[in-house]
Formats: sequence, structure tokens, C-alpha cells
Amino acid sequence: MKRVFIIFLFSLLFIASVVTIKNSYKEGRETALVYGTEVTEIPELLHEAALFSRSHLALDYKDMPVDPSKERNLDSYYKNRAFHGAPPSIPHVISDERNMGGKNCLSCHQNGGFVQKFDAYAPVVPHPEKINCRQCHVPQNEKNLFKPTEFPKLSAPNIHNKALISSPPVIPHQLQLHENCLACHAGPSAPMEIRVSHPERVNCRQCHALNNKETLDIGDFTR
Ligand code: HEC
Ligand code: HEC
Ligand code: HEC
Ligand code: HEC
Repeated sequence: MKRVFIIFLFSLLFIASVVTIKNSYKEGRETALVYGTEVTEIPELLHEAALFSRSHLALDYKDMPVDPSKERNLDSYYKNRAFHGAPPSIPHVISDERNMGGKNCLSCHQNGGFVQKFDAYAPVVPHPEKINCRQCHVPQNEKNLFKPTEFPKLSAPNIHNKALISSPPVIPHQLQLHENCLACHAGPSAPMEIRVSHPERVNCRQCHALNNKETLDIGDFTR
């Protein structure tokens, strides 16, 4: 009788661990997926959450004055990136060389605004939760230690791609690391060509569809 009980206990433990491992594997996969490929597997709200967490600022963005002489445009936006979608380099001095980022960077980049010292609007960070900023963003190096290369830059997708004259243009870029639409598209730090005239319509993807071909081409990221 004792033996039967022990066998029963072990099979119970075995089933429990199979269920736990299966669930944690599934969860791990969900966060690793690029949006747009397996819509059935990923809760769409995951991507919307970042945007809605800033939606209370939408009306402020709409009323914010912009000094036209300090505006950014897409040319300078692209120039600071090795290729389309690459992390931009840090174009200003960093006060503490050993600081990885976090609060130091967020003091200017969390909500943006005009910075007298650099005579520019601070771009709003689309991903404030990734606090090790300098893991991806490196300061600009002006010493000529490297030879010039022929490395071609991936060209950016076209904008103003719409079905009819007044219909909403498609979203030409992927959504990963772009979850927070208002960060790049609203307020005085947004490049002028893509500053949205309607930041208060916060449910952006209600009207703007993904350009599916380009996002599908990226494929799944699986560990
Ligand atoms: C005193 C305010 C301030 C602090 C602190 C600050 N920044 Fe900036 N940052 C700015 C301003 C203003 C700009 C825009 C500069 C320009 O356009 O010439 C900028 C630009 C950038 C850009 C370029 C964005 C783009 O789209 O080209 C990156 C990347 C960046 N900062 C990262 C950082 C990181 C990482 C830190 C922390 C180590 C940091 N910044 C700390 C004000 C600040
Ligand atoms: C995992 C890598 C990674 C980390 C960590 C990271 N970034 Fe970024 N960041 C990116 C990439 C990639 C882009 C470019 C997105 C694009 O332009 O398509 C970007 C864009 C930006 C921009 C440009 C927004 C704009 O409108 O021009 C700023 C500012 C910025 N990051 C600041 C920060 C700050 C501040 C931190 C730390 C709190 C940080 N980043 C952490 C990868 C990262
Ligand atoms: C890291 C900055 C960044 C974020 C975040 C971002 N975008 Fe963009 N967006 C751009 C840039 C830059 C372009 C210009 C084309 C390109 O380079 O991909 C663009 C282009 C667009 C366009 C085309 C505009 C036109 O006139 O044709 C739409 C629509 C758009 N984005 C919607 C969105 C939506 C919706 C979100 C949120 C899910 C979002 N974007 C998040 C930077 C961003
Ligand atoms: C109710 C539908 C709707 C919603 C919601 C919406 N848009 Fe739009 N959007 C449009 C239409 C329509 C146009 C084209 C306007 C035109 O051509 O006059 C447009 C144009 C744009 C453009 C091109 C520049 C401009 O302003 O004309 C960008 C960038 C953009 N939208 C981004 C966004 C972002 C970011 C959000 C979320 C904060 C958003 N849109 C929410 C309908 C919408």
C-alpha cells in the first residue's frame, strides 16, 4: 500500500513539473515575438500598454509651442543612426562616464522639453523601462581611428504611403521598440515631417495599419 502511495506521489510531481515547464516556455516565447507575425499568440495589448501609459500627456503635446529654428527633421534623425532602426548615438557630453543611464538620462529624456545647455529639445525616450541606456547608446567618437568603409546604409521606408489622399498613412516601421508612438511622433522634439497633427487620438492603430509586408519580412525572433 505504501509503495502504491509513493508511486502515486511521484506521478503527481511529474505531471506538475511538465505543466509548469510548458507554461513558462510559452510565456518566454510570447515576449520574444516580433509583433505582426503570430497575432493569435501575442496579446495585442502588450504593445499598446506603453502608449496608453503616456496618453494623459497627449493634450499637452497638442498645445506645446515649437520654436521652428530648433526643430528636428528626418535628415538629421537618420544621420545619427548607423542604419534604419539602429540605436542613435549620444550627440552630447555625458556628465558621468561610469553611469550606465537610468535616472541620469531620464531626467531629460523621460518627458523631453527644451535644454538650454544643448540648445535643443530633448527627444523623448520610447523605452524608459530599459534603464541600462548605454548598453545600446554610445557617445559619438570624433577621433578618426577607423578607415572609411563602403558599408551601405539601409534606406528608410517611404512615408506618406496611403490608399487615398486623405486616408491614414500605413505604419512603415516595425513595432518592436516602437511601442510608444507619442514619444517620437508628438511634441516639439518629434522630427517635423512625422509630427502628428492629432496626438489626442491616442488609439493610433485603430486607424493606422501596419505595412505588413515589411514587418512580416523580419520574421520571428526565437531564442
Ligand atoms: C541635460 C539634459 C540631458 C541629459 C542628462 C541627457 N540628455 Fe541625451 N539629449 C539631450 C538633448 C537636448 C538632446 C538633443 C540634442 C540635439 O538634438 O542636438 C539629446 C539627444 C540624445 C540622443 C540622440 C537622439 C536622436 O534621436 O538622435 C541620445 C541617444 C541621447 N540623448 C541619449 C542620452 C543618454 C543615454 C543619456 C544618459 C547617459 C542622456 N542622453 C542624458 C538632453 C540630455
Ligand atoms: C536594448 C537597446 C536599448 C536600450 C537599453 C535603450 N535604447 Fe534607446 N533606442 C534603441 C533603439 C534601437 C532606438 C531607435 C529606434 C528607431 O529609431 O527606430 C532607440 C531610440 C532612442 C531615442 C530616440 C528617440 C527619438 O525620437 O529620436 C532616445 C532619445 C533613446 N533611445 C534614449 C534612451 C534612453 C534615455 C535609454 C535609457 C533609459 C535607452 N534609450 C535605452 C535601443 C535602446
Ligand atoms: C523610435 C521612434 C518612433 C516610434 C516609437 C514610432 N514611430 Fe512611427 N515613424 C518614425 C519614423 C522615423 C518614421 C518615418 C519613416 C521611418 O523612418 O520609418 C515614422 C513613420 C510613421 C508613419 C508614417 C507617416 C507618414 O506620413 O506616412 C506612421 C503612420 C507612424 N510612424 C505611426 C506610428 C505608430 C502608430 C506608432 C506606435 C505604435 C509609431 N509610429 C511609433 C518613428 C517612430
Ligand atoms: C481616427 C483615425 C486616426 C487615429 C486614431 C490616428 N490617426 Fe494618424 N492619421 C489619420 C488620418 C486620416 C491621417 C491623414 C491626414 C491627412 O492626410 O490629412 C493621419 C495622418 C498621420 C500622420 C502623418 C502626419 C499628419 O499628421 O498628417 C502621422 C505621423 C500619424 N497620423 C500618426 C498617428 C499617431 C502617432 C496616432 C496616435 C497618437 C494617430 N496617428 C492616430 C487618422 C488617424
